[in-house]
Amino acid sequence: MTAAAATAPPDLSAPIVQLEGVRFRWRRKGPDILALDALTVARGERLFIEGPSGSGKSTLLGLLAGITVAQVGVVRVLGESLSARTGTERDHFRADHIGYIFQQFNLIPYLGIIDNVLLPCRFSVLRRERALARAKTLRAEAKRLLGHLDLADPVLLRQPVTELSVGQQQRVAAARALMGAPELIIADEPTSALDTDRRRAFVQLLFDECAATGATLIFVSHDAALEPLFGRTLRLAAANRAAGGARQLGAQVGSGYRSS
Ligand SMILES: Nc1ncnc2c1ncn2[C@@H]1O[C@H](COP(=O)(O)OP(=O)(O)O)[C@@H](O)[C@H]1O
Ligand SMILES: [Mg+2]
Repeated sequence: MTAAAATAPPDLSAPIVQLEGVRFRWRRKGPDILALDALTVARGERLFIEGPSGSGKSTLLGLLAGITVAQVGVVRVLGESLSARTGTERDHFRADHIGYIFQQFNLIPYLGIIDNVLLPCRFSVLRRERALARAKTLRAEAKRLLGHLDLADPVLLRQPVTELSVGQQQRVAAARALMGAPELIIADEPTSALDTDRRRAFVQLLFDECAATGATLIFVSHDAALEPLFGRTLRLAAANRAAGGARQLGAQVGSGYRSS
């Protein structure tokens, strides 16, 4: 299979994320948006990334997921240098090893809830195999995960995703990211639409599922109230040395929530 290189077993001793001397700009002649000397995330860690709107949080997550590639420096995930790979190889790598929860969830509106959760198994043999190691069928594993996320009601599961509440959509997106036990879960402000109690409950669910598979969680949020729940915080405004990034903003974000 041509994707063999992308699905080779990852180096279990390597940190999940290793970033060195990274500089990234969106436009060739534009300013650097991200300049990070180093970031290492150990396996099983729960990292909270905090920073004001526009400080480059989503840009950093895009680099970690191999959606984009830094012009300078190295981004390694599971010991693999993403910049050394082609776009297609990075797509395979991401499908195999990374569950990504987008801020807007990116659920597929014409697919049902369960089919949305099954999606990673359509793109990754590895995720399919891992899901089948946990349940008799892929659907059973999707239902198990949805059940853990408090979406077990069979009547609800037949509803179109477009008719779910924001909180329900968010949990479907989380189940999809967790399906097939990827090593790295990346969540980009997934709690922005929820009230405080529900945010904490959602984060706890993510923790439980990540602990069950040993997955690492990298979680971006404006919400300072969530920070103490995590093992470590990266303050991007301070860490990012790019002229076009956080520095100029310099704003301090309090506990108030702003979506970006
Ligand atoms: N796809 C893109 N194309 C061009 N510029 C972008 C793109 N995404 C983000 N940017 C710019 O990069 C900077 C950082 O954005 P972003 O990473 O989205 O910040 P945050 O997630 O912290 O709010 C902003 O100035 C933003 O306008
Ligand atoms: Mg963002």
